[in-house]
Amino acid sequence: MSWWWAGAIGAAKKKSEDDEAPPKHQSVALIVGVTGIVGNSLAEILPLSDTPGGPWKVYGIARRSRPTWNEDNPINYIRCDISDPEDTRAKLSTLKDITHLFYVTWANRSTEVENCEANGKMFKNVLDAVIPNCPGLKHISLQTGRKHYIGPFESFGKVEIHDPPYTEDLPRLNVKNFYYTLEDILFEEVEKKEGLTWSVHRPGNIFGFSPYSMMNLVGTLCVYAAICKHEGVILRFPGSKAAWDGYSDCSDADLIAEHHIWAAVDPYAKNEAFNVSNGDVFKWKQFWKVLAEQFGMEFGEFEEGEKLTLQELMKDKGRVWDEVVRENGLTSTRLEEVGNWWFADLILGNPCPLDTMNKSKEHGFFGFRNSKNSFISWIDKVKAYKIVP
Ligand SMILES: NC(=O)c1ccc[n+]([C@@H]2O[C@H](COP(=O)([O-])OP(=O)(O)OC[C@H]3O[C@@H](n4cnc5c(N)ncnc54)[C@H](OP(=O)(O)O)[C@@H]3O)[C@@H](O)[C@H]2O)c1
Repeated sequence: MSWWWAGAIGAAKKKSEDDEAPPKHQSVALIVGVTGIVGNSLAEILPLSDTPGGPWKVYGIARRSRPTWNEDNPINYIRCDISDPEDTRAKLSTLKDITHLFYVTWANRSTEVENCEANGKMFKNVLDAVIPNCPGLKHISLQTGRKHYIGPFESFGKVEIHDPPYTEDLPRLNVKNFYYTLEDILFEEVEKKEGLTWSVHRPGNIFGFSPYSMMNLVGTLCVYAAICKHEGVILRFPGSKAAWDGYSDCSDADLIAEHHIWAAVDPYAKNEAFNVSNGDVFKWKQFWKVLAEQFGMEFGEFEEGEKLTLQELMKDKGRVWDEVVRENGLTSTRLEEVGNWWFADLILGNPCPLDTMNKSKEHGFFGFRNSKNSFISWIDKVKAYKIVP
């Protein structure tokens, strides 16, 4: 395979005349979580004429109606709640032509025991509807994440974790983790169909675009910056010294989508779990300046003393946000949808344990991103879709 994706940032997104040709599909994708931070990137990249494994026909599912910012992607959009077995069976068992399943969704419950139960059921509902009804199904691509190595949110700082940088062969932690539940279901289910292959993708903090994502760091920081600017205050850093001064990394959503597609079509990537990150590092003290520059505002340095949190700074800002949206003619959003404060507090409040991309490279994936360019391009996209001014 030509690893055209290695560094071919965005080039693959150019539409060509081939896109107008009558569809002749070599592969058929089902993206579960199509409006999410990676689902939206998959929905953009899969239908392109030069995407490996293509031409692709694409189905995408999510619960809410299709948002305008997802409408340009030539996919078949299906509303379906995969936590409901009836709805899942009714909507998915009629799709007989799926060849590749991309699972990029999750449910957030208040304990990890509940997460295991809820997420396990959702995944199982999808597999029960798809595997027996799709004779051509070849591959299931499951996205989990770096919490595979550091444990679920609830046990951060409470369990002993491995020493980073993380490699894919590290043993599981002795703690409940819905990622382990999903992997176990995957391993059990693929056994039921001969020749069916799998891959697991473990990104770190994702830089991408989706106002519907439950964990969207770039979007959340843009909303925070827009509110600070509207109120005429500087962009204070609501995080820890460890995040400000230490090395962090991230995983670009388009890169993750490319990684999923690579594993779906390349024989060398089958039946393996892979980390997926940009391949470089940065410091928040550098990116904080970048964020401020993108919004033309003054920024604050790390402040000693009582720790600031976005949850505290942004509580009761719902009305201010409504004003920002109205005065700037933005796409209508609710603050609680686009400001994932708890998530940004976690990322900015803690050191970032790193992973390594060696295994992906050894198996033939050479994709990477320059994280500063990635940060700026996703900020541009948040502005272009009028989520922030
Ligand atoms: N975001 C990150 O920074 C990050 C980092 C590392 C790992 N991960 C992991 O990546 C995996 C995928 O998460 P993500 O962040 O990519 O997801 P996400 O951005 O939050 O998107 C979730 C998608 O799934 C849909 N969805 C949610 N519940 C559904 C249901 N019951 N039925 C049908 N569709 C449903 C959502 O749309 P509707 O709400 O309209 O249904 C949305 O399209 C998770 O395991 C997560 O832990 C994420």
